[in-house]
Amino acid sequence: MSKKDIVLTGDRPSGKLHVGHYVGALKNRVQFQDTCTQYVMIADVQALTDNFEDPKKIRDAVFEVMCDYLAVGIDPLKTTIFLQSMIPAIPELTMYYMNLVTVARLARNPTVKAEIKQKGMEESLPVGFFTYPLNQSADITAFKATLVPVGEDQLPMIEQSNEIVRSFNRIYKTDLLVEAKGLVPRIGGRLPGIDGQGKMSKSLNNAIYLSDPMDEVAKKVRSMYTDPNHLRVEDPGKVEGNPVFDYLDAFGTDVDKIIELKSHYQRGGLGDMTVKKYLLEVLEGVLDPIRERRKVYKQDREGVMRILMEGTKVAREVAQKTLDEVKQVMYLQY
Ligand code: TRP
Repeated sequence: MSKKDIVLTGDRPSGKLHVGHYVGALKNRVQFQDTCTQYVMIADVQALTDNFEDPKKIRDAVFEVMCDYLAVGIDPLKTTIFLQSMIPAIPELTMYYMNLVTVARLARNPTVKAEIKQKGMEESLPVGFFTYPLNQSADITAFKATLVPVGEDQLPMIEQSNEIVRSFNRIYKTDLLVEAKGLVPRIGGRLPGIDGQGKMSKSLNNAIYLSDPMDEVAKKVRSMYTDPNHLRVEDPGKVEGNPVFDYLDAFGTDVDKIIELKSHYQRGGLGDMTVKKYLLEVLEGVLDPIRERRKVYKQDREGVMRILMEGTKVAREVAQKTLDEVKQVMYLQY
């Protein structure tokens, strides 16, 4: 990672962000902005590919996500935060990339395949959803991103983007488009939900949100899944697959104390409630300042949206420059 690296990430806005987003992506962005040139995109166009019937939900989520970004410390002076739907170069690039990719290749994308199944789209698959990897390739290449930090499920998108870059550069005899490297963070968005059943997500109703008030966080922590065989305090308990300890690993800073708690739990004699009480303390240490800042942003819609519009203006020019170069080598400059 260096100042020369151009980092681009994006989120489909569909609601508020949760603590899984925080450990998987948001925390890293706060670090990248000091070492790299960073773009963070609110991917509202991509969000519409599977929410086209619910555009109001996406619109409302844009503001919520902005509040989350600013509250965790993504700094608009260091990071260009922008809105995908206001970058016309992206759909235009997408159109040109469509010539370079076969239907068979798109149909092989494992992430899209899994999503189609999960959303029950097999019978009537919208073209827009099927082709969203091309739109995402346009996102990445429009900014000549060299690093794209993502969850593991997004690696096929980067692979697709890099294939397009290679085809484009070969066919149009240029080196103007740039390949990107995917970067999967260690905890990689794999923070389990409070039910311990899978990844934290809104649809599974197992998330702790950055905007949750403290009593809500306390309630969720109290109800968290632990080792189901750890019935009495004296019983030895399991740490693996126990989300309470996953969360301590993700949010805690007192490593010695966490190691000690784990071995005590495994030996027996440490109750779930005691560990959960400590987890709540640790979580609140992280969430309380975020929550307080978020409240301030939430009351200033105009100011927050102005920040988004300013970033979007900058991003629009960067993407337009790439588009101009693309059109030049495609003999489309008139
Ligand atoms: N597909 C990503 C997601 O579902 C969001 C996204 C859109 C993205 N465009 C991007 C991520 C470009 C990285 C780079 O989370």
